[in-house]
Amino acid sequence: MIKDLRDWLREVGEIGELVRVRGAHWDVEMGPLTHLVHEAKGGDAPAFLFDDVPGYAAGYRTLYGQLSTIKRLALTLGLPLEYKSKADFVRAYQEKMSHLQLVPPVWVDTGPVKENVHIGDDINVLEFPVPRHHELDTARYIGTACVVITQDPDEGWFNLGTYRSQVYDGKTVGCQITEGKHGRIHRDKYFERGQPMKVAIVCGQDPLLYLLGSSPMPEGISEYEYAGAIKGEPIEVVAGEYTGFPVPATAEIVIEGDILPEATLPEGPFGEWTGYYCSAATPRPYVQVKCVMHRNDPILTCAPQHKPVDETVLLKGVAGAAGVWQALRAAGIPEIRGVWCHEGGLGVRFMVVSIHQRYPGYARQVLHVASSCQAGAYNGKWVVVVDDDIDPADMSLVLWAMSTRFDPVTDIDIIQKAWSSGRDPMVLPGNYNNRILIDACIPYDRKLRGTFPPVVDVSPELREKLGEKYRGLLS
Ligand SMILES: Cc1cc2nc3c(=O)[nH]c(=O)nc-3n(C[C@H](O)[C@H](O)[C@H](O)COP(=O)(O)O)c2cc1C
Repeated sequence: MIKDLRDWLREVGEIGELVRVRGAHWDVEMGPLTHLVHEAKGGDAPAFLFDDVPGYAAGYRTLYGQLSTIKRLALTLGLPLEYKSKADFVRAYQEKMSHLQLVPPVWVDTGPVKENVHIGDDINVLEFPVPRHHELDTARYIGTACVVITQDPDEGWFNLGTYRSQVYDGKTVGCQITEGKHGRIHRDKYFERGQPMKVAIVCGQDPLLYLLGSSPMPEGISEYEYAGAIKGEPIEVVAGEYTGFPVPATAEIVIEGDILPEATLPEGPFGEWTGYYCSAATPRPYVQVKCVMHRNDPILTCAPQHKPVDETVLLKGVAGAAGVWQALRAAGIPEIRGVWCHEGGLGVRFMVVSIHQRYPGYARQVLHVASSCQAGAYNGKWVVVVDDDIDPADMSLVLWAMSTRFDPVTDIDIIQKAWSSGRDPMVLPGNYNNRILIDACIPYDRKLRGTFPPVVDVSPELREKLGEKYRGLLS
C-alpha cells in the first residue's frame, strides 16, 4: 500500500495522471487554472503539482486535484483501477468499507514531519505559498484539502475532519467548522465548559486521510483506524509538539494551536462548495498558532471548490453514496443495486438509489432512510429511487425514469426543516432546508401484475448476436 503523499504522487505519475507546473502564482492563478481544467475535463482531469511559485523557494509546492478521477480514488483505496461504470466503483468501495477490521494507529518516536519545527517568533504560516483561490476571496486559505485533528473531551477519541482555514497573519489562522460536524461537536463541548480547544491542522497528508476526513464517517471512531484497516497496517503517528495529538509521521505540514471560546475574527467571504460566495465576512472562532512542523520541501494540499464540476464532487459523491449504501444495509433493507450522487448536484445534493422492488412501500422506505441516515443527511436536496434496470449514474436513464414512471401527485414526499447550513443559498431561517424525495419506480402493483408497458430495448440474446456479427460497428 501507498506509504505517504510522496509515494502516492510517484504512483499517480506512473499511471499518467500527474502534471507538474512551474511558475504559477499563488494569487488567483493555481486555483482558477485547476477550475478551468476540471470544467473542461470533469472526471478525467489530472492532478497538478505546482513548483517554483513566485516569491517562494523552489521545492515549496502545492498540490491540486488529488481525487478527481475514479482511478486516483481507487489507487488511494487500494482497489482495482478499472470499472465498467461509476456505480460499480461505489459497489467495490462500499463492500471494502463493510468488511474492515479497524487498525489503531501506532506511535513512533519521530518522523519526517519533524524535520522542521517552528515555535514562538519563528512561526510564520506564510512561509508556504498559501493560495488565494477565487477572485472574490479576500484572504489566502492554507487549509482546504486539509484534515483538522480534534479530541472529544469526554471520550478522548480523535476526529479527522476537512474544515477550511483562512490565514489572518503568520501566527493566526481560521477553522470554519459547520454545525453538526464532529470537530464542531468537540468544539461546542469545550466552549460550553469555557475551555479552549486544541487543534492540529494537517495541510498535506496521505490522500487516504483526506478522503476519510472529508467523508461522513461514524462518530466515536478515529479516521486513523479506518485508514489503517484499508491499508492493512497501522498509520504511523508522532506526538504533536504543542498538542501531543497523534499527527501523521509523514505529514507535509502541521499547524497546532488553540481555539479560544468567545474570541472571533471575520471569516470569508470564500468561494463555497455550493458554487456561490454565500456569505459576507462572518465572525468565527480562530486558531492562535503555537507550533508549525513541516517536512523539507513541503507540499501544501489544496482543493478550491466552485460551480460544477470541481475537483471535490467525485470524492464527495463516491464517499456519500458508499456511506448511504452501508446505512441502507445496516437498516436491514435488501436488494440495493446501486447508489450514485451526481457531480452536477455537488456530490451530495442529487442522490439516486437503484433497487429491486420486493414489497409495497419499499421504494418509499429507501427514500426516507437514504435521505436521513448520517451519510445522506447533511445538506441534501433531491433523492430519487429507480428500478434496477436504471444505472443510477446514467443521468439520461434517471431522467427517463422520472419522466415515465413518476406521478407528481403521489410520488413526491417532502422533508422539512432538515440539516443544512449557510453554505446553501436557499437556506431557511434557523439554518434548515427542505428537500424532495422522488419515487421514480414502476408502481409496485403494476409491476407485479405485469400491466406496465414493456420497455423498447434490445434483448440480451439479440445484443450478443449483433455484437458478434457487427463487431466493427459496435466496438
Ligand atoms: C475540500 C473540502 C473542504 C471542506 N470544507 C469544509 C469546511 O470548511 N467546513 C466544514 O464544516 N466542512 C467542510 N467540508 C466537509 C467535511 O469535510 C465533511 O462534512 C466531513 O464529513 C466532516 O468530517 P466529520 O464528519 O468528521 O465532521 C469540506 C469538504 C471538502 C472535500
